[in-house]
Amino acid sequence: MTVAAEAVELGPLQGFHDLAHGEDDFRKAVLDGLSQPQKRIPCKYLYDERGARLFDQICALEEYYLTRTEIALLEQHCGEIAQLVGPNASLVEFGSGSSLKVRIILDALWTPAAYIPVDISREHLIESARALAEGYPDVAVIPVCADYTRAFSLPDGASGEPRVGFFPGSTIGNLTPTEATVFLKKAAAALGAGGGFLVGVDLKKDARVLNAAYNDSRGVTAAFSLNLLARVNRELGADFDLGAFVHTARYNTEKGCVEMHLSSRSRQAVTVRGIRFTFEEGERIHTEDSYKYTVGEFHALARGAGWQPARTWIDRNRLFSVHYLEAV
Ligand code: AVJ
Repeated sequence: MTVAAEAVELGPLQGFHDLAHGEDDFRKAVLDGLSQPQKRIPCKYLYDERGARLFDQICALEEYYLTRTEIALLEQHCGEIAQLVGPNASLVEFGSGSSLKVRIILDALWTPAAYIPVDISREHLIESARALAEGYPDVAVIPVCADYTRAFSLPDGASGEPRVGFFPGSTIGNLTPTEATVFLKKAAAALGAGGGFLVGVDLKKDARVLNAAYNDSRGVTAAFSLNLLARVNRELGADFDLGAFVHTARYNTEKGCVEMHLSSRSRQAVTVRGIRFTFEEGERIHTEDSYKYTVGEFHALARGAGWQPARTWIDRNRLFSVHYLEAV
């Protein structure tokens, strides 16, 4: 674990842990992904600075019901959540983004000891962590820059008992069910006995509602997806013509996930780091999957990963679920 203290102005933060791998990984992932028969770029790379900002705009869209529905659930049930979590907890948020939802939880908890936001987007993480630390002077804020889908260890400062994970937004839907099981097992090991896990999970529903949420009328989701190619151009000196690709999102009922692609409008070639990749007209780059679960499916998944579902809250329209899991 490297603590890049010299590189970061810590201010009110209790430390900064940099476990990310940077440009090298991005180049490898893109060159490898574009060399596959089904071209792909992993969705974690959507969140550079501009991508993180565009995602915040997605969360405010009328069609994107997920964020406001989850926030309402957290606000409505935060008292009960605080009771389940108990006093002096260390809260570990995976994919913390702007660290806004966690404020609802921190406000409700009794004397929370620490907040450990884990995120891949370094600048956004530090900025959000600093803003949060200023508002919560009694909470030790310890940001960790890491890809939480890989093995990682929590910093020593996260020693408050119990340790409780927070994984809102249905971000778990970016993982396949198999990957989600692996992640939940790793989280159980990292959070330890007596720990809990508060997870937000988008529910299966009418395909029309899902398709609208990922094909918004203002084109923010399209801009978010296309920003991936802009990032490849900027960071890897590629020559993607952004106007030559179109964002598509479609709910695959059999798989239970919204599949997102960037589809080539024409036959074309693109050069990335001196390597030429050809696209047929209509050929697609897979950018993201967003899995949806019924309550029963998610409970089975959690149980298979060493967690006991203790409480589940859903909204009256059955759009979204929030689960509190306890380590078994
Ligand atoms: C951050 C993974 C929860 O799948 O709904 C939103 C990402 N992509 N619109 C989702 C996303 C396009 C989002 N998650």
